[in-house]
Amino acid sequence: MERFFFIANRLHFRPMDQAQALARIHELTALLNDHNHRYYVLDDPTVSDAAYDELLRELQTLEAQFPELKLQDSPTQRIGSTPLSGFEPLTHSTPMLSLANAMDEQELVDFDARIRKDLEVEQVDYVVELKLDGLGVELVYVDGVFTAGSTRGDGFTGENITQNLKTLKSLPLRLRDDSRSIPPYLEVRGEVFMGHTDFEALNQRQLESEKQPFANPRNAAAGSLRQLDSRITSSRNLLINLYSPGRIDEFSVDTHLDFIQALKDWGFPVNDSFKQCSNIESVFEFHKQMESDRESLSYDIDGTVTKVNDLSFQDQLGIRSRSPRWAIAGKFKARQEVTKILSIEPSVGRTGAITPVANLEPVHLGGVMVARATLHNQDEVDRKDIRVGDTVVVQRAGDVIPEVVKAILEKRPADSQPYFIPDKCPACEGHVIRLEGEAKHYCQNISCPAQIKGRIEHFVAKRCLDMDGFGTKLVAQLVDSELISSIADIYALSVEQLADLERMAEKSAINIVEAVQQSKSVDLWRLIHGLGIRNVGEHISKVIADKYGSLTALSEATVEDLESTHEVGPIVARGVLEFFNEPDNLEIIQKLASYGLDPHKDVSVATEGKFAGLAFVFTGKLELYNRDSAREVVESLGGATANTISKKTDYLVAGPGAGSKLEKAGKLRIKILTEAEFQSMVGAE
Ligand code: IVH
Repeated sequence: MERFFFIANRLHFRPMDQAQALARIHELTALLNDHNHRYYVLDDPTVSDAAYDELLRELQTLEAQFPELKLQDSPTQRIGSTPLSGFEPLTHSTPMLSLANAMDEQELVDFDARIRKDLEVEQVDYVVELKLDGLGVELVYVDGVFTAGSTRGDGFTGENITQNLKTLKSLPLRLRDDSRSIPPYLEVRGEVFMGHTDFEALNQRQLESEKQPFANPRNAAAGSLRQLDSRITSSRNLLINLYSPGRIDEFSVDTHLDFIQALKDWGFPVNDSFKQCSNIESVFEFHKQMESDRESLSYDIDGTVTKVNDLSFQDQLGIRSRSPRWAIAGKFKARQEVTKILSIEPSVGRTGAITPVANLEPVHLGGVMVARATLHNQDEVDRKDIRVGDTVVVQRAGDVIPEVVKAILEKRPADSQPYFIPDKCPACEGHVIRLEGEAKHYCQNISCPAQIKGRIEHFVAKRCLDMDGFGTKLVAQLVDSELISSIADIYALSVEQLADLERMAEKSAINIVEAVQQSKSVDLWRLIHGLGIRNVGEHISKVIADKYGSLTALSEATVEDLESTHEVGPIVARGVLEFFNEPDNLEIIQKLASYGLDPHKDVSVATEGKFAGLAFVFTGKLELYNRDSAREVVESLGGATANTISKKTDYLVAGPGAGSKLEKAGKLRIKILTEAEFQSMVGAE
């Protein structure tokens, strides 16, 4: 069989038969992988980008002509492939351990003392490496070819992210055998992370496309690695460094440093900043050095890792439950500074949660100017006794919002007063309450301007009033243009008002008004759920709708009466009482009624039926049901559904692509059903 192949650089057609194509594909694959290794691992390219691209295009064209000849280690895979529907679980052949932490020099000294005592030796050699701030992964090579890769997961089972890992340019698709033989089976572990430049560029792109920026490079790396579409992963320029062995057949070395050398010989990228130390003092010296050098690195590190170099010593020391005795992570101190609190401001979030925020005299912290820091909640304020006027230590831990660590009491002004979150909301003057067992204070007013968008989004959502066409953007448009300022106002919207909005077609406006009108005869539980009463979710909404039959009856319920309801405890009862205690909320409810909202009283909460008392969780892709219809079926038969697996789960219904839930269910010995088995339990025809 002969196919015609156009060779771009020679500008003529040349017929190539399969044997010739195969030879050329072998040649190009090896050549490109070699160039890749030189460029991304050794940082020592020998061809120009243009020459590389030309070879790559030649290979791509050949592979398109002879798809059956594409090699397992083809560099064309790095651009990603068709999206997956989910990640399969992949069990590690030996658990991926974590590390114990040393928070200060003394804990390193203790670590060393314990090791020398356990080994009964005077002196031990250590290797200190950087603790890369990314995600642990495992790579599997069979006969030198990269065959599978997974996330760390819970240490025992991770997710199969082979397609995504193949897009990492420095990850060898085939191991090099020029200076060292290749084990028939090899697992290695390392860290996937993102450099600062790529992180900033990615966040810039996120902002431009109106997407949420990532909080830090670690989150960005995690988000990029867990993409179902590997073409997205490919565009993110993730880095990888390998640092520890998994199971490796027919291979042995004596020390960790020899292992690192083997990784290099096979073509793996390893981190060059490590140091061999013959005592714990020089370990700590290197640790301190890296702590002060960390700002000049092009990627994030969150500490150092100290490992016993001698592998027979490592064996002798063994492992604790989840971490090796022969290694320890030295944590860096969070970046801290001293400044002054100018004022404390209660800030209301979209859910009504109130966070005390300190306004600071601006200060440089880990490379950025900081003027505000969170005090988290009243308990934290009390525990640390933070006051306005205090000189305080602030820190950025893990690059999140800065926080106030402590007050320097010697510098406290004589007239300072303790701080309390006010009992009136700063945005609307509504009641601020704190429920038992909760850390946060909440504003109870459903029309509070700080919360209104979030409240309305919840009210119109599918599992509440289910108003089709009412999305986040529309809510924002309506609130911003002051057409609505409460959930009740939705019912007064006219087609004309909606059609006047930017990017709103008359047809859509008509549909929306129709959806709003239809919701007037909604099930009572949906309305209760839509009100967003604290701690009253969908299930409890059904339970109380069933018992009280109307909002008026519910609003008049006493605490004893509420608590006597099956499944309603004091926390829920208090949430309900506080909600109806807020005069503004009662006004909104009256308004809703005056607009003709007349919820159905019949509720679909069955307490009898063949699923009574049983809890189901669904995962993976289902063919016959979607999540909502599955939930409805379970509930109609008296059962309950949840999103997460717990000891209370009775059945996990798993479709293709099921991931960590399957694993967890297995561990908790929860019965796993296929969708077909579930259907036959339901008894559907
Ligand atoms: S060694 C048994 N070396 O830190 C050895 N881990 O908290 C376990 N990490 O899950 C890992 N840099 O993801 C090792 N140079 C390094 C590391 C490193 C980062 C991560 C790794 C691990 C976590 C432990």
